Amino acid sequence: MEEKVAGNGGGPDRPARNVGSRKRARGFPKGRQLDAEALREVRKILGARQRRPDLLIEFLHLIQDHYGHLSARHLRALSTEMRLPQAAVYEVATFYSHFDVVKEGETPPPPTTIRVCDSITCELKGADALLAALKNDTDPSEVRVLRAPCMGRCDTAPVCEIGHLHVDHATPKSVLETLHSGRREPVIPSYEGLSAYLADGGYSVLQSCRAGRISFESIVNDLTEAGLRGLGGAGFPTGRKWNIVRGYPAPRLMTINGDEGEPGTFKDRYYLEREPHRMFEGALIAAWAVEAETIYLYMRDEYPAVLHILAHEIAALESAGIISKGQIELRRGAGAYICGEESAMIESIEGRRGYPRNRPPYIAEVGLFGKPTLNQNVETLHWVPEILAKGPKWFAEQGVGEAKGPRSWSVSGRVKKPGVILAPAGVTARELIERSGGMEEGHIFKAYLPGGASGGILPASLADLPLDFGTLDKYGSFVGSHAIVIFSHRDNISAVVLNLLRFFKDESCGQCTPCRVGCDKAVALLERGKWDGELLDELAQTMRDASICGLGQAAPNAFITALEHFSDELARTEVAGRPDRY
Ligand SMILES: Cc1cc2nc3c(=O)[nH]c(=O)nc-3n(C[C@H](O)[C@H](O)[C@H](O)COP(=O)(O)O)c2cc1C
Ligand code: SF4
Ligand code: FES
Repeated sequence: MEEKVAGNGGGPDRPARNVGSRKRARGFPKGRQLDAEALREVRKILGARQRRPDLLIEFLHLIQDHYGHLSARHLRALSTEMRLPQAAVYEVATFYSHFDVVKEGETPPPPTTIRVCDSITCELKGADALLAALKNDTDPSEVRVLRAPCMGRCDTAPVCEIGHLHVDHATPKSVLETLHSGRREPVIPSYEGLSAYLADGGYSVLQSCRAGRISFESIVNDLTEAGLRGLGGAGFPTGRKWNIVRGYPAPRLMTINGDEGEPGTFKDRYYLEREPHRMFEGALIAAWAVEAETIYLYMRDEYPAVLHILAHEIAALESAGIISKGQIELRRGAGAYICGEESAMIESIEGRRGYPRNRPPYIAEVGLFGKPTLNQNVETLHWVPEILAKGPKWFAEQGVGEAKGPRSWSVSGRVKKPGVILAPAGVTARELIERSGGMEEGHIFKAYLPGGASGGILPASLADLPLDFGTLDKYGSFVGSHAIVIFSHRDNISAVVLNLLRFFKDESCGQCTPCRVGCDKAVALLERGKWDGELLDELAQTMRDASICGLGQAAPNAFITALEHFSDELARTEVAGRPDRY
């Protein structure tokens, strides 16, 4: 993932370190030389913005947006301007897949990039054939066609993105038409803006908190009684988290996780493109509750329409005096699934590579900029105002059996009407298929992912299990971000699992060996066709025991559950290479 670059080893403006008297002094500084014109260009792009190191990724975006790539001379100039070592700038720029670093002598990318999603639902719906057709039908000097991971639009698979414009239900014809239309900007959906939200009683719960009519203790009690749990995937009880964070000394900060990169998941985008102020009000209540000074909202770069909406609505909140200027800082990701892991996200907000941190300490104690930090998923916050307005019972009673609350299930794959289904916690996969219009014509239900790429794969015979946090543990599976992908008798389980492992291999940050080498090894073993169960078991054990974060720990779930539930089919499978026969 990383490349090495010549650096001066001592910071941009510092002379080269004198490493020994026997070495002859150089007549010029070591490493890449500063280009005065590039420095002028970088300064012009950055304008009056403060040269804060945590803004490095924002600045890389500005340069990439302006020039279409990051040249070595601009990176060199940026390191001088920000007083950062060249290596630090370079390692960040090369970590994120949306940055194109171009060294001296290399050709910059063509003016247009088409990204074709090749994650599981899009692959099921023909992404490979689409990619091949687009490569064939475009001029590589004008257009580059790249594979890309899940774009959070699995309900309209297959999907691709031209510049910042998505093409849903993409066919070679529709993509080429859009390409030739010259349109590159996202379509902004119509959504509930600030005035409509206020007219509907919005921000009244926040006002009650700020006016002292609601206490911190009662909020924590209500959230706990409601059974609200983290909907980013881990399911940690939200009220308990607020209590823990508030227990650490101020100053405290808050982050909102809008990275939504788990293949199959699109619920956060769904809500933000419709009712963004519910999330904003929930976030402001949370920040009030834990007395967080600033909220950093980390939004994935794959959601350009959402980024537009958020920037617009933050400005509206500032103008209306509901927040002070800068109280909510919007940060744009740059194409890295791992930045959804909360400590990696914090590293990214601080302007570094998204390397997950070792724990303890947990971010609640030592988080963003070393301060106690409350981090919540977009959807978790979305529910907060309504729970506080309608009472915890209203929420809790929407679950089935022991499970509490409604959940937003992203359903995709072989169903007639894929989309976000609001259904109780504790619902079954079979019920979700029914609520999604049933199976597609000519497809018989065979298997499902209960929790995106990470949560393992289960057979149709286990489709009547209640889906909730913890209920699938004994099957080596979990609901995570509630991304349900449905497969049929026409789908090849080993091809599905290979797709999932290729995703993890591409997205592993590479920091720890068990995950970096493990994902690579797993893909190689799965590509052999006939699976070696014993070897895969051993590999899974090592990855689970020794990986630093949830990516490496969960990556083996797919092949271990497949071995458990689909051994007959796997024994018959002899296909190697990239399977494209769904
Ligand atoms: C590899 C990995 C990716 C993750 N991606 C996301 C994500 O995209 N969005 C999210 O909210 N949480 C994600 N999480 C979970 C976060 O680390 C964290 O638990 C969550 O943001 C906490 O908020 P919540 O309690 O409201 O769910 C991810 C975790 C891992 C291990
Ligand atoms: S488990 Fe994988 S993604 Fe997580 S820190 Fe290790 S290498 Fe990075
Ligand atoms: S958008 Fe392609 S799999 Fe999600």
